[in-house]
Amino acid sequence: MSANQNITGNNQTNGAIGKPIDRVDGRLKVTGQARFAAEWPQDNMTHAVLIGSTIASGRIRSIDTKDALKSPGVLAVLTYQNMPKLKPVVTNPREEPNARRLPLQTPDIYYSNQYVAVVVAETIEKARQGARLVRITYEQQTPATVLDSERGKAFSPKVVFDKPPDTNRGDVPAGLSAAEVKLDETYRTPTEHHNPMEPHATTVVSDGDKLTVYDSTQYTYGVRHSIATNFGIPEENVHVICKFTGGAFGCKGTPWQHIAVAVAAARQVKRPLKLYVTRQQMFANVGHRAETEQHVVLAAKRTGELTAIVHEGFSHTATYDEYVEPFTKPTHMMYGTPNLKTSQKLIPLNVGVPTYMRAPGECSGMFALESALDELAYKLKMDPLRLRLVNYAETDPDTKLPWSTKLLKDCYKQAADKFGWSRRKPEPRSMREGRYLIGMGMATAVYPVNHFPSSARVRILRDGTAIAESSTHDLGTGTYTVLTQIACETLGLPVEKVQVIIGDTNLPKAMVSGGSSTVMSVGTSIQGASKAAIAKLVEIASADSQSPLHGATVDRVVAKDGKLSLKDNPGKGEVFSAILSRAGIKEVEGNFDTQFNDKEKTHSAHSFGAHFAEVRVDPDLGEVRVTRFVGAYDVGKAMNMKTATSQMQGGVIMGIGMALMEATILDPNIGRFVNQDLAEYHVPIIADVPVIDATVLQSFDPYASAIEAKGAGELGIVSAAAAVANAVYHATGVRIRDLPITPDKLL
Ligand code: MOS
Repeated sequence: MSANQNITGNNQTNGAIGKPIDRVDGRLKVTGQARFAAEWPQDNMTHAVLIGSTIASGRIRSIDTKDALKSPGVLAVLTYQNMPKLKPVVTNPREEPNARRLPLQTPDIYYSNQYVAVVVAETIEKARQGARLVRITYEQQTPATVLDSERGKAFSPKVVFDKPPDTNRGDVPAGLSAAEVKLDETYRTPTEHHNPMEPHATTVVSDGDKLTVYDSTQYTYGVRHSIATNFGIPEENVHVICKFTGGAFGCKGTPWQHIAVAVAAARQVKRPLKLYVTRQQMFANVGHRAETEQHVVLAAKRTGELTAIVHEGFSHTATYDEYVEPFTKPTHMMYGTPNLKTSQKLIPLNVGVPTYMRAPGECSGMFALESALDELAYKLKMDPLRLRLVNYAETDPDTKLPWSTKLLKDCYKQAADKFGWSRRKPEPRSMREGRYLIGMGMATAVYPVNHFPSSARVRILRDGTAIAESSTHDLGTGTYTVLTQIACETLGLPVEKVQVIIGDTNLPKAMVSGGSSTVMSVGTSIQGASKAAIAKLVEIASADSQSPLHGATVDRVVAKDGKLSLKDNPGKGEVFSAILSRAGIKEVEGNFDTQFNDKEKTHSAHSFGAHFAEVRVDPDLGEVRVTRFVGAYDVGKAMNMKTATSQMQGGVIMGIGMALMEATILDPNIGRFVNQDLAEYHVPIIADVPVIDATVLQSFDPYASAIEAKGAGELGIVSAAAAVANAVYHATGVRIRDLPITPDKLL
């Protein structure tokens, strides 16, 4: 077994962590009481409707708003002609401020359905009617819409995540010529859209020079910073609230244009205003996963040992802004080859800028790499799992650092055993069930640990309850629940006695809830703040001659069942409320800030996993059904086995969607995404998904974070599509290198 078993974890005593408790916000959700961004009633509310451009490239020649402004109930129309001038925000230190990212500033059109006007009215219906009456003419140019035709415009980005666009490790030519078997193929992944159930929405209440903004976001403080910068107002005048986010997957991580439009419009009409982005507008304006074309060369000895990897290719970006889908990122660390070459280029298209989507980089990149490894295994006549073990990296081949923890071998073993991998016959098309072809495939999942700075405050109240606060977010992932458990663990309180309050910039700052960072980052600060609050309580009791804990020091006291007592004399102690009441104190408060994790400098930290998929393919119709899916995942310590398992299952479901159905089609002539709703953009429904047997390993990672967690949000989707594609090849003998695997490609 792995080294992890020999490390002693935190001496957790209260048993709150890991418990598969139900979501603490579950009742609010199912009874409709959970308030989303468009659900905060205001007196005197106005409603905004955005108008999108009908062309994908060119400029506005004329805008006529006269009839719209005369339409009943219409209060204002904003266009580039009367929109306030905005200042661009820098969200990423590697970025230049880009004014072309701002809404309604110039007549230039970079993509179809780009916002060109907003109409504000007394009701949503009146705003829609007004929007119909705005007349716009354009000077149209031919849009760039097809990756292949625009290859001549390819350029190197400045960075690919944290690396240069072209990298070389070892001696790649030597590694290639040492090959006894070589694989050289090209893989393609299409544009995909996040499609959270809750559309983006912003409600703005403007009070003099102060703003309250209810926004559906992964980053309350980011929205605040963006609004303050755009409008040149102090950050403290902008109050952003987001109690629940109805899914995000990355498309609510950066503040998009509609937020500034909503703020400008609310300030213009001087009344509360509600704006939501329609599903169709979401396809154009709030990011998407970029299309990729990836060329992979694997050079290997007959033993399977990789002597070189080349991973290079293209993804698209926008003509007015830059986003790199970093698909070569996982290739640097996944397998132990000494020789590696990577290269990425961008091709600008007339689309809204792409963005992070669940496991950006890993998701596209590992589809290619894990498909390629499967192909190489067939060439070598070697079991695909065996090939991965031959090339298992015992340390990070890129940084040469030891892994923080890596239970990948345990993942492979547990999942393979449960799945019955040994029953797989090696030859393609060799397994049948009646007239159906059966296939088995596997792939490796990986996602890095992203520990972000975050702050929290925990207050223990005189009534014996506690409140834990941080301006982080619950995207439907279970943040409320696991933060409650983390606080309970240290405070020694039952779940009912701890209230978690998040999603409000009046609370201590947390970073974006992205990169699978929330639990380890905010969880660490909640734990630290809980400890600090307990320490204050001990201090008060210790100073109190009437307390049984008089003279006690914090290291000799335990918090359990709402009581502080002496470690070596548990009978001696008293309940929290007694300590605070006698002292005449309302509450004690603990605060904690975590920074970027220093241990990242001494260890390479990643979550790992193994996926095994079984498919049934109809040989006449080309229909693929995923009949079984078994996975095992090493995410460090799971705070809640139920929500952690659910995260893995959710990721796998999205991966099945990526494998079999998800793709957004850009009309090459008009440059608009045409399947721009949930009727035509297909995601898996329950009937498309088998029972996903996801095992979250009992594990802990003392280097990744103080609470020993790594990350779970994104790992599950990584390589799930490759496992399905590999199973499809095993079933049919047809290798699909171009997702999604639709029936036409198999016939
Ligand atoms: Mo995620 S794509 O880091 O929100």
